[in-house]
Amino acid sequence: MCGIIAAVAKRDVADILLEGLQRLEYRGYDSAGIAIIDSEANFTRHRRLGKVQILADDVKEQNIKGGTGIAHTRWATHGVPSENNAHPHLSRQIALVHNGIIENHQALREDLIKKGYLFESETDTEVIAHLIDAEFERSGSLFDAVQTCIPKLKGSYAIVIFDITDPSRIIAARSGSPIVVGLGNGENFVASDQLALLHLTQRFMFLEEGDIAEITDKEIHVFNNLGDLVQREIQESNPEQDICEKGPFRHFMQKEIFEQPKALLNTIQGRLSETQVITPSFGTDAASIFSKIEHIQIVACGTSYNAGLTAKYWFESLSRVSCDVEIASEFRYRHFIARPNTLFLTLSQSGETADTLAALRLAKEKDFLCTMSICNVARSSLVRESDIVFLTHAGREIGVASTKAFTTQLIALLMLVTSIGKEKKHLDDKTELSIVQALHALPQHIEEALTFDKEIEKLAKNFTNKQHSLFLGRGALYPIAMEAALKLKEISYIHAEAYAAGELKHGPLALVDAQMPVVVIAPNNDLLDKLKSNIEEVRARGGELILFTDKTTAFQKDKNIKIIALPYVNELIAPIYFTVPMQLLAYHVALIKGTDVDQPRNLAKAVTVE
Ligand code: F6R
Repeated sequence: MCGIIAAVAKRDVADILLEGLQRLEYRGYDSAGIAIIDSEANFTRHRRLGKVQILADDVKEQNIKGGTGIAHTRWATHGVPSENNAHPHLSRQIALVHNGIIENHQALREDLIKKGYLFESETDTEVIAHLIDAEFERSGSLFDAVQTCIPKLKGSYAIVIFDITDPSRIIAARSGSPIVVGLGNGENFVASDQLALLHLTQRFMFLEEGDIAEITDKEIHVFNNLGDLVQREIQESNPEQDICEKGPFRHFMQKEIFEQPKALLNTIQGRLSETQVITPSFGTDAASIFSKIEHIQIVACGTSYNAGLTAKYWFESLSRVSCDVEIASEFRYRHFIARPNTLFLTLSQSGETADTLAALRLAKEKDFLCTMSICNVARSSLVRESDIVFLTHAGREIGVASTKAFTTQLIALLMLVTSIGKEKKHLDDKTELSIVQALHALPQHIEEALTFDKEIEKLAKNFTNKQHSLFLGRGALYPIAMEAALKLKEISYIHAEAYAAGELKHGPLALVDAQMPVVVIAPNNDLLDKLKSNIEEVRARGGELILFTDKTTAFQKDKNIKIIALPYVNELIAPIYFTVPMQLLAYHVALIKGTDVDQPRNLAKAVTVE
């Protein structure tokens, strides 16, 4: 989604802002822009369609100077990707960048047109610039103008504004989209994501919902939604955790796939003893809350939703608690009935996904036992607003296609399943021990799965000229087939559908011919014989089978069956283990197709708008 960076400094800030934008590229965007003023209030604005580098080349050529500026990467919501629609937007003296969506922009636009404002873009953002300008003209104070306009906006926003005749200050405001202030020495910065500022400072202040901040090079004044001056905590970043280099890897996605053993280890560390899941790692009240749970409602989007679907199998078989899983954008707009003593559980890498956050806020108004989130970003809105939080320690995920966030969500979920089962006395010590042993062994198994990289790279060639593909699985491996299909779609743009293998004959079998790669996740488990029948159904129709199995299953290769046989692992952790070769497959197919692996077209890392 869109990205913001801004600065008030004594030095020239164009390069700083452009580097910040480059750090935000992973979020997804289609155009970029920058506006800067120098100490004599000489103002310039540049906007370009396409990559930040195009804007950077332009800015360099023009040798732009000035210590106060705002910059933005835009991911189109209202209006096509174009230079005119790119931010910053101007209204007389006002320059403004915005993340989010203004839902009542049409009504505001009509009103402003009646007042004589001319619109240069199709965006909802330009409405905010004109609205503030109208107030600014009336009051003469930019801060007061922002404060007066904010209640008129419906929707979500993070905005940064300055008066192009006054280099001394910038104003930032948030509601529904994050804003962080970076504290420098005699200079201050603002961004939508801390990552954009890590080359400038390690000290941060996170604005809260409804905050408006006035920022000069020396001071930061924050006012809450009641207009009171408030102090927000200053937090130091952890440079090791925040590191975001590719190292020897070609792409962030590849790096993140290979980081999984460490990410999984970090996620279990201190939370598992040799024999048990340590329930207080879910919070001091976790044991008493867990013992009361009668139902679990999981809500999430995309990859996180697939993690939830996997957990449903575990919740119902291991902790013997019923579980529903729903896509956040559906959940939030339907009439749902909260069953008694239900744990409302959100899953999210970013903790800022608009639909998931909205679902959580809705749930807080209903009669749920407790809200909980499993999340990878400690300072996210989801974490701040949930009653119980369990952080996955995957480290920062930059590749748009989620990899290590998914496997760490799964390991967190398996720990949660075990803890709830234990606190409800539905799961005995022996089962807990076998889960815990399997969890301890998992990072090493993932290392082994990663050694199949070269074999999978060869296999990826089978997708070279393919337009469509099917992914099959059964039981807890079915959501893994869904995740595998999602990964392939996202980064290679090949159409991929996942089916529960038993569904094949109810329709999708009609698609199967020699042009259709059918990927089957087929480890040795209770459902293997059933799956073998489904495999035969494909084989009989000339489908091109690619089996991901383990060495104990004794499948025979032939010219229509390609096999990757991994070492056998305990079936409890097989969904996590088999995810890794699926990620490698998607990655290598994308390399063959020559797509932008880390920033696939039309996609954004954190979907902060509906
Ligand atoms: C897929 C992917 C998306 C996200 C989804 C939810 O690779 O990254 O489908 O999983 O947008 O995002 P989070 O987990 O941040 O809520």
